[in-house]
Amino acid sequence: MISVQNLSKEFVIHIRKDAHINGFDSISFDVKPSELFAITGPSGCGKSSLLKSIYRTYTPTGGKVIYTCADGSKIDLASADPCDIIELRNTEIGYVSQFFSVIPRVSAMDILISAQTSRGVHAKQARERAEEYLSKVGIAPKLWDMYPATFSGGEKQRLNIVNALITRPRLLLLDEPTASLDAKSKEWVMSLILDLKAQGTAMIGVFHDQIAIETLADKRFDMRTRSLVPIGYDLPIDEGMLQEEEAI
Ligand SMILES: Nc1ncnc2c1ncn2[C@@H]1O[C@H](COP(=O)(O)OP(=O)(O)OP(=O)(O)O)[C@@H](O)[C@H]1O
Ligand SMILES: [Mg+2]
Repeated sequence: MISVQNLSKEFVIHIRKDAHINGFDSISFDVKPSELFAITGPSGCGKSSLLKSIYRTYTPTGGKVIYTCADGSKIDLASADPCDIIELRNTEIGYVSQFFSVIPRVSAMDILISAQTSRGVHAKQARERAEEYLSKVGIAPKLWDMYPATFSGGEKQRLNIVNALITRPRLLLLDEPTASLDAKSKEWVMSLILDLKAQGTAMIGVFHDQIAIETLADKRFDMRTRSLVPIGYDLPIDEGMLQEEEAI
């Protein structure tokens, strides 16, 4: 469904005398329908930048992202027209960000209803499905009509995930969806992800959590070596990172 070919992103910081920062370099992999492709690697190695470059929040500086659309046509997401990207985001491609920013003064229920009605789902069915999903991730009914700005960190993150999953995208990009969730919430979220995967959604997910990788992933890609590694493989501790932590 998606073929990432030699994708690279370099940031140029104009206000710092055009300093160059390497986001990630020459990444290639393919993902099929119903497959969850896990990306792992140490902090700062470019995992979020890779997802943002596929979703086109960032414009890649090299390479291609060939995506096969629902109608069978192929498009290079790395160079596609922004109007085509917006259309695909509204119809086929979902994204769960690492950090959830809530819309002010819109209730959790209204966020989920409008995510669906804007894609043609009837309002009544949209409300029923929102109730079903909120219940499935353990968000109490008394919170459904509240503003998510007042939610706890874990409740916000669960709503963030439900907001992307409820639209049933064909391709879903997940940036650490289970980070900062307790064991029970993690189980609820993983079960929703597995349901969607079984319906054919292809997923590219960034994970630090070994249990989530082992439960969800079909393949695992290590950003540092730019290669597939076994799902159960524990990455060696980076000496440089260890020294930094000790210094702190
Ligand atoms: N918008 C940006 N402008 C400039 N540099 C950026 C930008 N976004 C990311 N970077 C840089 O790119 C590198 C990779 O960042 P990224 O957020 O992709 O890492 P990550 O692997 O997701 O890390 P973490 O595990 O901590 O979330 C970092 O050095 C970061 O400073
Ligand atoms: Mg990140």
